[in-house]
Amino acid sequence: MATATGGTTEFMTSLSEQPTAGLPGGGRMPLVGFGTWQVSGRRGYEAIRQALVVGYRLLDTATMYGNEKEVGRAVRDSGVPREEVFITTKLPPERAGRERQTIAARLAALDTDYVDLWLVHWPPSRGAGVPTWREFLAIRDEGLARAVGVSNYSTRQIDELMDATGQPPAVNQIRWSPALFDRARLAEHRRRGIVVEGYSPFKSTDLEDPVLADTAAAHEVSAAQVVLRWHLDHGVVVIPKSVTPERIRSNFDVFGFSLGEDEVRRIDGLGGSSNFSEG
Ligand SMILES: NC(=O)c1ccc[n+]([C@@H]2O[C@H](COP(=O)([O-])OP(=O)(O)OC[C@H]3O[C@@H](n4cnc5c(N)ncnc54)[C@H](OP(=O)(O)O)[C@@H]3O)[C@@H](O)[C@H]2O)c1
Repeated sequence: MATATGGTTEFMTSLSEQPTAGLPGGGRMPLVGFGTWQVSGRRGYEAIRQALVVGYRLLDTATMYGNEKEVGRAVRDSGVPREEVFITTKLPPERAGRERQTIAARLAALDTDYVDLWLVHWPPSRGAGVPTWREFLAIRDEGLARAVGVSNYSTRQIDELMDATGQPPAVNQIRWSPALFDRARLAEHRRRGIVVEGYSPFKSTDLEDPVLADTAAAHEVSAAQVVLRWHLDHGVVVIPKSVTPERIRSNFDVFGFSLGEDEVRRIDGLGGSSNFSEG
């Protein structure tokens, strides 16, 4: 979706041309992003640069990944305007109580004045982390994070945050794939106005499953592309990771086809019986 010629890069994909999810407090996030866990060092930097050339406009990092500097440098060197890139990072739970120092240090590492989304990476050790959530909301209101959310939270833990503050997380980033599909859980998030962002789309997927293979053959795409497209067709944000140039490209090439209702339902069925409950 972008061409690179002789050192100059022409970007053909702007954020406004991509499918996005609306965030509760305003703003939008791309439905397809680039995961950066285990994307580090020189190879990681090159992979992030390539992702930006291909057209990804959401970069998912975390303080725990130890690569925020590479992410910041790749964005700066790419020439893509900062406001065109949606950057997510995450607070390690052991930093609960030190939110302000952490965001200041992470913004410096990322070489930016704000992140688009700051997530509590895991619930802190006691309860849902209401004091941390209050700090997150204050930091958002000061403009250091455009949106704030959580990761690896149950609906019960989210309700604890909402009961205490009246404010839902914009996003809950959770492990998600056809095999983990849970219609009731998705509906619980929708009812609260929370965007579901799925992680590890491939790690819990058998890419040779006949349902995925048949669907892939019907659309002349790969099973991996079907898995990513299935997320989009559910309105779930997906952040595949790869350091392989061909996969970085093909994982973003999922906008030229869509799945029919029957196909989505068959793929939902890989998640077992829980997906047939209404929520
Ligand atoms: N919030 C959390 O607690 C949490 C936890 C885990 C992950 N995450 C986020 O979610 C992102 C994605 O999850 P993940 O990294 O765990 O796993 P993933 O994206 O499901 O899988 C990555 C693995 O799949 C391979 N792969 C990539 N594209 C492929 C394709 N088209 N066909 C076949 N294999 C392919 C990659 O290999 P190569 O790289 O060798 O190509 C890598 O081994 C992470 O990078 C991170 O940003 C968040």
